[in-house]
Amino acid sequence: MTRMLTVGAEPLRESMRTLVRGFGSDAREVELVVNNLVDANLTGHDSHGVGMLPRYSESFLEGGLVPNVHVKAVLDAGAMLRLDGQAGFGQVVGHEAMLMGIERAKKHGTCIMALGNAHHLCRIGAWAEMAVAAGMISIHFVNVISRGSVAPHGGSDARFGTNPFTVGIPVKGREPVLLDFATSVVAQGKARVAHNKGEKFPPGRLIDHQGNPTEDPRYVVVPPIGAILPFGEHKGSGLALVCELLGGALAAGRAWHDTDASKRRVHNGMLTVIIDPNAIADAATFERETLAVVDWVKASPPRPGMDQVRLAGEPERAWRAQRNAEGIPIDEITWKELHVAAQRLHIDPAEIDRLAGVTL
Ligand SMILES: NC(=O)c1ccc[n+]([C@@H]2O[C@H](COP(=O)([O-])OP(=O)(O)OC[C@H]3O[C@@H](n4cnc5c(N)ncnc54)[C@H](O)[C@@H]3O)[C@@H](O)[C@H]2O)c1
Repeated sequence: MTRMLTVGAEPLRESMRTLVRGFGSDAREVELVVNNLVDANLTGHDSHGVGMLPRYSESFLEGGLVPNVHVKAVLDAGAMLRLDGQAGFGQVVGHEAMLMGIERAKKHGTCIMALGNAHHLCRIGAWAEMAVAAGMISIHFVNVISRGSVAPHGGSDARFGTNPFTVGIPVKGREPVLLDFATSVVAQGKARVAHNKGEKFPPGRLIDHQGNPTEDPRYVVVPPIGAILPFGEHKGSGLALVCELLGGALAAGRAWHDTDASKRRVHNGMLTVIIDPNAIADAATFERETLAVVDWVKASPPRPGMDQVRLAGEPERAWRAQRNAEGIPIDEITWKELHVAAQRLHIDPAEIDRLAGVTL
């Protein structure tokens, strides 16, 4: 088993600020990128945390990620926006796109926003959290331009990205419902994390390069590449297809139908629908019914072996509280990959360690 390090959230941020400055990012970009990645770690999604920076550094060096650029409106038709992320950090262009979309939804009651050519938008739940913080519902269909990693139901090779689907719904006086998942049975980055930790996957999640079942996450990380299966068999596969068509073909003008795995960039296309619940529904009725449903669902007696019914969004909030208090576990291999990223960006790895309080 790989050794685990524990790093406090703030020392990790401080250390990663130094690393991200290596991209030449301005101060605002550094903050947006670092806060977004560390929050992914805090919410338990290490697959989308600071461990993405080595990949970003490779993408940057081959020109797939462009620092210090902003979303550009290609179509501005009031409640309809089409935006070009210009291959900028997803943490920046995603943030800017959501600010625009939320502002339009406040004005028009809704906004349909198409975002293309964004570098990795990371944890899509972060964008839904922005919407619910403004009292809005948001729905996101996302495709991935990287390399195929998920087999369609019945198929034996990778034809989709992990194409996430996300919905945020505000609940009056309570925490929001925040459903945010990859349409694969696990996110691709979780295979990378498991591979780095030397862990196997439970059966029924992966196939090898010949389409045979395997428990070894190497088949998603190092050649010969196999595939992750979609969640829920034909249902998840269907949702992955819809994400490709809406996030990719419609929103980004670029869907994945390729076998080229040579490039290190991860681009996302995202179709976002933002709805002001007060503009379409009677506010009091929506609040009453929403509260009644969440209470009703939570009240289901736990079945044997389960402790309680959790609503979507609860696990991430619990992780955030725990990891803010106890620190963030990072495996040693991921940390060494961060050293390599630092060197690529002409940053001294010893400085990364010093700021994080890590001794290897
Ligand atoms: N940008 C990209 O290209 C990309 C691609 C794929 C995934 N992602 C992101 O990866 C992250 C992880 O995705 P994932 O599929 O591994 O997540 P996951 O399997 O952990 O599922 C997360 C969702 O399920 C809910 N959940 C988890 N356990 C639960 C329980 N016991 N009861 C009720 N609800 C529960 C969570 O609240 C959350 O809504 C997401 O944030 C996603 O947006 C991004």
